[in-house]
Amino acid sequence: MTLTIQQTSGPAYTRIYAYGAARGENAVPNDDLVGPIDSSDEWIRQRTGIVTRSRAVPTTSATDLATAAAAEAVARSGIEADQIDLVIVATISNSRQTPSMSAIVADRIGSNPAAAYDANAACAGFTYALAQADALIRAGVAHYAVVVGAEKLSDVVDPTERSISFLLGDGAGAVVVGPSDTPAIGPTVWGSDGSKADAVGMNATLTEFRDGEAAWPTLRQEGPTVFRWAVWEMVKVARRALEAAGISASDLAAFVPHQANLRIIDEFAKQLRLPESVIIARDIETTGNTSAASIPLATHRLLEEHPELSGGLALQIGFGAGLVFGAQVVVLP
Ligand SMILES: CC(C)(COP(=O)(O)OP(=O)(O)OC[C@H]1O[C@@H](n2cnc3c(N)ncnc32)[C@H](O)[C@@H]1OP(=O)(O)O)[C@@H](O)C(=O)NCCC(=O)NCCS
Repeated sequence: MTLTIQQTSGPAYTRIYAYGAARGENAVPNDDLVGPIDSSDEWIRQRTGIVTRSRAVPTTSATDLATAAAAEAVARSGIEADQIDLVIVATISNSRQTPSMSAIVADRIGSNPAAAYDANAACAGFTYALAQADALIRAGVAHYAVVVGAEKLSDVVDPTERSISFLLGDGAGAVVVGPSDTPAIGPTVWGSDGSKADAVGMNATLTEFRDGEAAWPTLRQEGPTVFRWAVWEMVKVARRALEAAGISASDLAAFVPHQANLRIIDEFAKQLRLPESVIIARDIETTGNTSAASIPLATHRLLEEHPELSGGLALQIGFGAGLVFGAQVVVLP
């Protein structure tokens, strides 16, 4: 006799219940950073849109930021912390390779013994982790998930690195995901192009650092290469995410692209022909680029500033080191 094993299945749909956010305590102005990179406040504003970026004090870790954002999302969700059985933290800046940030966050927010793991998909990390939470809940593997994007990029910044140092900030954004009566997280369009792995990332390995062959590894990028890729290729990905959700740009209430550069954001808006009515996230101006945290941080802020967006559709797209990308349409809580 052939034995069959039981299989799980979950609800047909999921949705985002609530957002939480935490930013680094300090608002660091351009003038504080321009000296070592021979730049200026004017150049940074014109080329990136950044006026200040949030950076955490030395005693605040990425895990602290992740915990604060996750705790706020859970408190606002109406779900008890002990009902959360999955915690995913998307990050590239955990200062320890193991244990994960997610296991510590799960314990700190009262969700021990939730399944917990970190995901590294750089600036697309939040869209990747949201895709996983949605799929795992619909498969019946988890019931309620906390998805966090959390970074303390100031730990991996070389203040003399002209290609990127002035862009980066610290923060965490989080959501609670659970069952829904109607579809509220659209199909994820995602992928990678490892042939461009050298375009953005760390400038050395930890073993090179250990062996004295390199300084403390920090981030660097080929800015114009990444810029062109973002503007040409990511617009196609954004369009595919709209198509996959069965909607058009004019159905959107909000557009939340990864906060990498205001010029990239404006170019997306133009190429997607977003109508005036679509509210565009421009959190980069005061937060900077916070990699995996940037999309949930920007959305949290949009919902604070425009509560009328609640129930509307948002297109989000993340892209970065790998290179990797991910996009989906979500219903805002
Ligand atoms: C990094 C970035 C802001 C640079 O802007 P850019 O317009 O591409 O600038 P370029 O590198 O082409 O340089 C243009 C000029 O500014 C100068 N420049 C470059 N970096 C500078 C800086 N930090 N400060 C002042 N001047 C700078 C260059 O030397 C060049 O001068 P020149 O015209 O006299 O030769 C931009 O390329 C970018 O945002 N890239 C994408 C980032 C991104 O999406 N990352 C995703 C992963 S997180």
